[in-house]
Amino acid sequence: MLISVRSIVVGLLSTCLVNGHAHHAPLDSNYRIDVHSHVIPPIWRKALISAGYPVKNGTLYTDDFPVPDWTLDSHIATMDSLGVNYSTISVSAPGLSFLSDAHEARTLARQVNLQMHNYTRTHPTRLGALCLLPLPHVEESVAELKFCLDTLKFPGVGMFSNANGTYLGDASLDPVFEVLHKRQAGVFVHPAAPGCHSIAMGYPIPLTEYPFDSVRAMENLLLSGQRAKYPDVKIIFPHGGGAMPYLATRIAGMASMPAMGGRSIPESVAELSGYYFDTAASTSAIQLTALKSFVGVDQIVTGTDYPYVPVTQIEAALPVIQSNGGFNKSEMARINHGNALGIFPRVAKVLGV
Ligand SMILES: *[C@@H]1O[C@H](CO)[C@@H](O)[C@H](O)[C@H]1NC(C)=O
Ligand SMILES: *[C@@H]1O[C@H](CO)[C@@H](O)[C@H](O)[C@H]1NC(C)=O
Ligand SMILES: *[C@@H]1O[C@H](CO)[C@@H](O)[C@H](O)[C@H]1NC(C)=O
Ligand SMILES: *[C@@H]1O[C@H](CO)[C@@H](O)[C@H](O)[C@H]1NC(C)=O
Ligand SMILES: *[C@@H]1O[C@H](CO)[C@@H](O)[C@H](O)[C@H]1NC(C)=O
Repeated sequence: MLISVRSIVVGLLSTCLVNGHAHHAPLDSNYRIDVHSHVIPPIWRKALISAGYPVKNGTLYTDDFPVPDWTLDSHIATMDSLGVNYSTISVSAPGLSFLSDAHEARTLARQVNLQMHNYTRTHPTRLGALCLLPLPHVEESVAELKFCLDTLKFPGVGMFSNANGTYLGDASLDPVFEVLHKRQAGVFVHPAAPGCHSIAMGYPIPLTEYPFDSVRAMENLLLSGQRAKYPDVKIIFPHGGGAMPYLATRIAGMASMPAMGGRSIPESVAELSGYYFDTAASTSAIQLTALKSFVGVDQIVTGTDYPYVPVTQIEAALPVIQSNGGFNKSEMARINHGNALGIFPRVAKVLGV
């Protein structure tokens, strides 16, 4: 929050002329950064098919949900039509968790990250890449994380609520969080399928299990103590936090019981509300009111979930954020881009604000 306010102030101050040259202008309040958009690199798609993800009538399915057609050109064209100025791009679930061989996972992570790097080099002022990690393989993930942040200079990192059952919060992930914490990295978490598919009753996993898997990850980060251990990682959970704004006080209440460790209720609620939440598929008045009262304006960021969420739904969702959330213009500037720039300072640098 402090960082985003500072970057806005710096943006305003830098409008002055420096040595007679017009310096960086601040961003218009409508300038929109989408922190939740996905690429589907052909090499990743091919690996999913090789691993046995089903192709029905020409369409690939992951988690019983169709993987849409995607090209870099259509990504940029859709950003233009939606009024999205800049997007952070990431790979969606299942990430690389379907590869049991660590070497294979590491190799594909590297190929996908280099591919995403190329996308962003083609559109440097429109796209920034979030590193794909070969989780649950930890040692390989630490190496890839450093490569993405230090060599490729990615603005942030993509992670999943769980990777083949290893949830965020699992002690095996400490080495990854150690690196993220030291660098105060910005992390975008996407939900993944829980291990037990039968709970989806045969419906596509994303329908309800994605939002609840975000809840599981936050819950595990709380109960394992991992979030408290690495508080400097700036973490975005998508879809308005799944069900977390609604469930946090219940979880904190139960976590206060002696059998669960006797945690302080206010401290648990503070921790659970200490994330950023994006607006993907979460722009109804009910959702935005809950989100606003749970985390406040400074932790809400814009997300679309393109191309998995149909463009017609995104077109309807983006323009109603302001009225459904009751936000004023300066609050919208923070939701549109100010908060995101605080999470990803390298994007602020590229945009000159
Ligand atoms: C199969 O794909 C074709 C072409 O994309 C489409 O017209 C048809 O409706 C699909 N059939 C089923 C059963 O989904
Ligand atoms: C941001 O996108 C809007 C809508 O496409 C466009 O009108 C505006 O010029 C863009 N702003 C910048 C700074 O590129
Ligand atoms: C996922 O975890 C299960 C149980 O630990 C293991 O048997 C399986 O090989 C793992 N799958 C992959 C793709 O790593
Ligand atoms: C990225 O672009 C460079 C230069 O255009 C090219 O040599 C390289 O093969 C590309 N890498 C990937 C993974 O597409
Ligand atoms: C917008 O609301 C904030 C409270 O969140 C208030 O401090 C600010 O003055 C308002 N700005 C405008 C332009 O009304």
